[in-house]
Amino acid sequence: MKATLLVLCGLLACSWAKTVPVRTVTYDGDRVFRCNSKEMSKTELAKIFTHDAADMWAERADGTFDVRTLSQQERGADLEAILHSTAACNMVIANVEDYIASFEASARVAAEKVNSPAAWHDDYHTYAEIYAWYQELALEHPDVLHFESTIGESGEGRLQPAVHIAGGSRTNSSRHRIYFQCQIHAREWISGATCMYIVDYLVNSYHTDTRVRELLDTIEFVVVPFTNPDGYTYTWNGDRLWRKNRRINAGSTCRGVDQNRNYNSHWNEGGSSSNPCSETYHGPGPASEPETQNTQNYFRENFPIVGAIDWHSYSQLILRPWGYTSQDSPDESRLSSLGSTMRSLILSVHGMSYTSQKSIGLYPTSGTASDWFYDYEANEGNPFRAAGYTVELRDTGRYGFLLPPTEIIPTGQEMIPAVLEFAESLTRDPLTN
Ligand code: ARG
Ligand code: ZN
Repeated sequence: MKATLLVLCGLLACSWAKTVPVRTVTYDGDRVFRCNSKEMSKTELAKIFTHDAADMWAERADGTFDVRTLSQQERGADLEAILHSTAACNMVIANVEDYIASFEASARVAAEKVNSPAAWHDDYHTYAEIYAWYQELALEHPDVLHFESTIGESGEGRLQPAVHIAGGSRTNSSRHRIYFQCQIHAREWISGATCMYIVDYLVNSYHTDTRVRELLDTIEFVVVPFTNPDGYTYTWNGDRLWRKNRRINAGSTCRGVDQNRNYNSHWNEGGSSSNPCSETYHGPGPASEPETQNTQNYFRENFPIVGAIDWHSYSQLILRPWGYTSQDSPDESRLSSLGSTMRSLILSVHGMSYTSQKSIGLYPTSGTASDWFYDYEANEGNPFRAAGYTVELRDTGRYGFLLPPTEIIPTGQEMIPAVLEFAESLTRDPLTN
């Protein structure tokens, strides 16, 4: 891979090493508050979690959470009044604009210092660069990696590619499969970067590591790198903190649907909003979004699936069903113990502490991808029942969504043993449908 890229770089001036995002949206006056839910009443919490001017950035197992107020909208003032009035909340970012601008300044300095192309996983990349990278990797490893140019088009007509990683005779369609989808939330750049790290690792270890070889000769990984290609593109050319897709909402000036509230599982049953201006707008109906339909269809075309992960950031959490109810799922003990094992494996790599818990954690969410993976409807026709998880990657709030690129490789490294365990455990002993 490296050698070919260097050759290409020589010929094409290697633009990927120096791409710096352009931004047209500003965040002047927006604030971020860190609150302690243990010091708040249920009513107070519900007011914040269901507030349409709240942009939830993180939740932690210790009961604290980060929330941004959409201060440019009228409703923001009302939310800020609530946050200011409680001793349980502290303002941690006084002006989000200054916060983003300081990161951009250091990114520009770093980009200027690069006079030889950086290694791929040392930096974040654009939609076009990533698309080409997967294509190239598949050309170099035809024995283990198969590139699918698209599973369907996004709202703005972008392709959503998929890759299949498997060794031996891939024609065996009854292989157990693990399904990953990445970058459903546009601003969570470490999600897509970690998926690339994992794919690169699996492909390159096939010939050198007997554990990986045995796994890939038995099962298949299916990875969708861009669950939200339009939103991701917009974080590079307009708004670094954009979350949703880019749908034009009828009758509103606000754009976007939160794809992670749009899946056809208990859609609109709490923890989502019917306001198109909300960061958790669930859309006009279940699976109304082309990106939701494409991923739901692709998931269902790839049975038997034994496990699925929807990759997010930030908070360092391993989340299992359900998000829409605090009731235990029928597989609670198994899913909980698998989550704890993954947690210990992650901890063992660089000492980073992740928490394994039920998705509902602090607040409910409905219509999420990982609830859908595990739901009956999704698994109709699947000989097994997919174990559905959400993983929230680094960090816990120091950098948040603006995680420095120097953390891409360590984040990827700490996921490898957990991913291998996830795949091996669910292949050995799949959940029954
Ligand atoms: N942070 C992600 C989101 O808002 C995942 C949520 C997981 N569920 C939950 N109840 N916290 O879409
Ligand atoms: Zn997310």
